[in-house]
Amino acid sequence: MQWSVTYVIVFLLIDGHNSLENGLLRKPPMGWLTWQRFRCVTDCRQFPDTCISEKLIRTQAKLLVDGGYLAAGYEYIIIDDCWLNNTRAADGSLQPDDDRFPSGIRSLADYVHSLGLKFGIYEDYGTQTCAGYPGVLGHLEQDAQTFASWKVDYLKLDGCNADIKDFDAGYPSMGHALNATGYPIAYSCSWPAYQEFSKMKPNYSAISQACNLWRNWGDIDDSWDSVYSIIQWFGDNQDRLAPFHGPGHWNDPDMIVVGNYGLSPGQSRAQMALWSIMAAPLILSVDLRAISEWAREIILNKNLISINQDPLGQMGRRVLKLDGNVEIWSKTLIDDRTAFVALFPQPYGTPIQLSVNLTDLGLGRFDEYDFFETFHGEFLGKYHKNERYSFTINPSGDVHAFYVESAIAKTLRIIL
Ligand SMILES: *[C@@H]1O[C@H](CO)[C@@H](O)[C@H](O)[C@H]1NC(C)=O
Ligand SMILES: *[C@@H]1O[C@H](CO)[C@@H](O)[C@H](O)[C@H]1NC(C)=O
Ligand SMILES: *[C@@H]1O[C@H](CO)[C@@H](O)[C@H](O)[C@H]1NC(C)=O
Ligand SMILES: *[C@@H]1O[C@H](CO)[C@@H](O)[C@H](O)[C@H]1NC(C)=O
Repeated sequence: MQWSVTYVIVFLLIDGHNSLENGLLRKPPMGWLTWQRFRCVTDCRQFPDTCISEKLIRTQAKLLVDGGYLAAGYEYIIIDDCWLNNTRAADGSLQPDDDRFPSGIRSLADYVHSLGLKFGIYEDYGTQTCAGYPGVLGHLEQDAQTFASWKVDYLKLDGCNADIKDFDAGYPSMGHALNATGYPIAYSCSWPAYQEFSKMKPNYSAISQACNLWRNWGDIDDSWDSVYSIIQWFGDNQDRLAPFHGPGHWNDPDMIVVGNYGLSPGQSRAQMALWSIMAAPLILSVDLRAISEWAREIILNKNLISINQDPLGQMGRRVLKLDGNVEIWSKTLIDDRTAFVALFPQPYGTPIQLSVNLTDLGLGRFDEYDFFETFHGEFLGKYHKNERYSFTINPSGDVHAFYVESAIAKTLRIIL
């Protein structure tokens, strides 16, 4: 076990700053959220099957279980904006829209729990949510108590209609209110995203002490341009972000949009591979009634999920840029393997062929390494540290994902 012990010690040193310790989200959260696919459709007469309603949540929750997603780790089902009544109840408490949630939120949460899933909901730190429903400002304790009484396991707190300068005090206050309920509620903060956008420098140390995860940057959209711009932003800012990323507290590049209208199969592989190597939250937003088999296979890929859920919780980093804007990301895993993703982002007519020497990949501690393709796990060959590794990537936003391990390290791991 010596190699693992080394990593655990290194990890403790890296993780030495004070971070939120409510015992939740020791691995990046996995789940499903309404927003990207279902937005704020509230007209259930015209759109009975896609409006934000208990019917939609029940249907998708059942499919998360029946489709094998829960078994793969996708355990949270989360309602985003547009579930609320326009006004608070007479006693000031939050209430859902009666027409769309006739059984109430507690009953919906009970159903979700009965399936073995966890239940999440959305609110906003300001006076109103982004879509104009009542926000939590002025009602922090009351709303936290309401969420706990409904058995909400995850709260996404947005930042519309608020003064961004209040966030450094306001988001921790809501965190304390959640903690004071005694009910464990994973806390997702949009705090830094609004600050980054208005060119303030977020205090990530304070954020990681208050939140289990936090959106850093703009909302994802269903297009390769959007996905790639987020990948670039995380690569460009990795030195600021990675130190605060780890078990219990995660940077969040936003939802997985695989399975919708905008991404090709290659681009879908790319999003899933990059989110896995970044140890990003894997929050799907897709109509599980209509997902294609190829998209489902990408989302359920066991090797990618295990890289994402690696107990070290390291945020992978962009380590190399090669010809054709190809970039290589890498991440160390707890069992002494290293995962890599090479991304060829741009449109081009034919696959690109590249080679890279092993030292440039950061591999030199051992003499030889075994290479494996990540999606299917097939053995790609044994390479000496002085050799170059050659590979091919399809154009227009596809990836070559691979991982390496040293036979010596593996043997030592088995013996020790
Ligand atoms: C509240 O915070 C304390 C101290 O950080 C922590 O030990 C506890 O698990 C938290 N409880 C809940 C319900 O979040
Ligand atoms: C919203 O709440 C008000 C007051 O509690 C209630 O009269 C009304 O029926 C509710 N509307 C919907 C759509 O839930
Ligand atoms: C950031 O937050 C930490 C923890 O709350 C605090 O100690 C530190 O002074 C803050 N840094 C700045 C620049 O405000
Ligand atoms: C690997 O590349 C680095 C610089 O990119 C170079 O210094 C080194 O000599 C190369 N090693 C081999 C074995 O090609």
